[in-house]
Amino acid sequence: MKLRSKAAALLLLALAALLLALLSLRARRAPEPRVLPAALQRRPAPVAARPAEPRVFPGDLRPRSPPRRPPRPHPRSRRPGAAGRHKLARRPGEAQSFRSVLPPDLWIHLAVVACGNRLEETLVMLKSAALFSHRKMRFHIFTEDALKPEFDKQLRQWPDSYTKKFEHRLYPITFSVGNPQEWKKLFKPCAAQRLFLPVILKDVDSLLYVDTDVLFLRPVDDIWKLLKQFNSTQLAAMAPEHEIPKIGWYSRFARHPFYGTAGVNSGVMLMNLTRIRSAQFKNSLIPTGLAWEDMLVPLYQKYKNAITWGDQDLLNIIFYFNPECLYLVPCQWNYRPDHCMYGSNCKEAEREGVSVLHGNRGVYHDDKQPTFRALYEAIRDFPFQDNLFQSMYYPLQLKFLETVHTLCGRIPQVFLKQIEKTMRRAYEKHVIVHVGPNPVH
Ligand SMILES: *[C@@H]1O[C@H](CO)[C@@H](O)[C@H](O)[C@H]1NC(C)=O
Ligand SMILES: *[C@@H]1O[C@H](CO)[C@@H](O)[C@H](O)[C@H]1NC(C)=O
Repeated sequence: MKLRSKAAALLLLALAALLLALLSLRARRAPEPRVLPAALQRRPAPVAARPAEPRVFPGDLRPRSPPRRPPRPHPRSRRPGAAGRHKLARRPGEAQSFRSVLPPDLWIHLAVVACGNRLEETLVMLKSAALFSHRKMRFHIFTEDALKPEFDKQLRQWPDSYTKKFEHRLYPITFSVGNPQEWKKLFKPCAAQRLFLPVILKDVDSLLYVDTDVLFLRPVDDIWKLLKQFNSTQLAAMAPEHEIPKIGWYSRFARHPFYGTAGVNSGVMLMNLTRIRSAQFKNSLIPTGLAWEDMLVPLYQKYKNAITWGDQDLLNIIFYFNPECLYLVPCQWNYRPDHCMYGSNCKEAEREGVSVLHGNRGVYHDDKQPTFRALYEAIRDFPFQDNLFQSMYYPLQLKFLETVHTLCGRIPQVFLKQIEKTMRRAYEKHVIVHVGPNPVH
């Protein structure tokens, strides 16, 4: 009996020692996250499977004692940065191995046109792309000369673990066809720029264009994958401008042709540039097709008195005449205040959560849609090296508690479902990368 218990004690001691050794090994390899969020302490049930419960936070993620903080009076005065302070020492060999994994022709290409006071907003958009994406990206940033140094400076201040995920290129605002002076007069200079991307980025096969007021709530990789779903005639993908034609803008007011029953929104546009460059587009000008770059000027001249929203209207006209060229993506890939401010009308977002948020109408910077602003500020203020759950998700949940009086705030799960899933994936990936023998990319 005595001998048995002694052996058992020894065994227990050995086990404890082994456990300690394992723990310290793991702690050395995976220093982050420091504290496991409650939701991760057990094997997570897939969040997406949770039934939609309006107004109710998922039980196990409910903040313990929500300290209701009053909204900050001048949130914009806080710089997006904090980033620079968290710069980590480069881990030797890391950046290199990341690059060698993927040949440049497989990179994701992300383009944005940023002018005027859109610098901070653009950087937050790029940050959301860098935070959650896996595949190497190239950022094509078209901007005024005055903003270039600041873009360069701020992007270089991000920690290596993020900057190694992308390269960025800065371009001036240029027009490749027609008379540049005329274009600048016709549109606000920056608005028309994106129509010329197929001509300017001649070496790029495919491109995701987004407005500066877009935020990725899941890896850019996921929207990039849609390129492979194009059939042989499709060359661009966009989401509808509205889910309910009856209350949509185009169906009620447009004085020009537009795509489908409610038009398309061009704030998130996935393009196969190779196809755009080689296609002949049907049009209302001449019976034969026209190449993209030969079509823009005459089309603009024909419709300029009828168009209100500039380049987006031109795109709607183009895809009205060429509907077989468009791949229509569901609204969760371009989720705007329109999808909740009259009541929730984006079914895909109710099911899967918002994948790409588009805070148009300036809602990140005023008090009209606090849910949109809360997401913007959570990503802007996230210090890169912290734990995503502790420093982004939980504060975000708290902020959402203050928005339940708004129509969009009544459906927090629509906004939070996808980003929570994304963070879970990022967290698990992080652990696998640090503990596993082979880094995954
Ligand atoms: C774009 O289209 C071209 C021509 O059809 C095709 O070769 C290429 O693979 C497409 N790119 C992507 C990313 O699907
Ligand atoms: C591709 O899909 C579009 C939109 O559904 C359709 O109009 C077009 O006919 C399709 N093209 C082919 C070749 O099937």
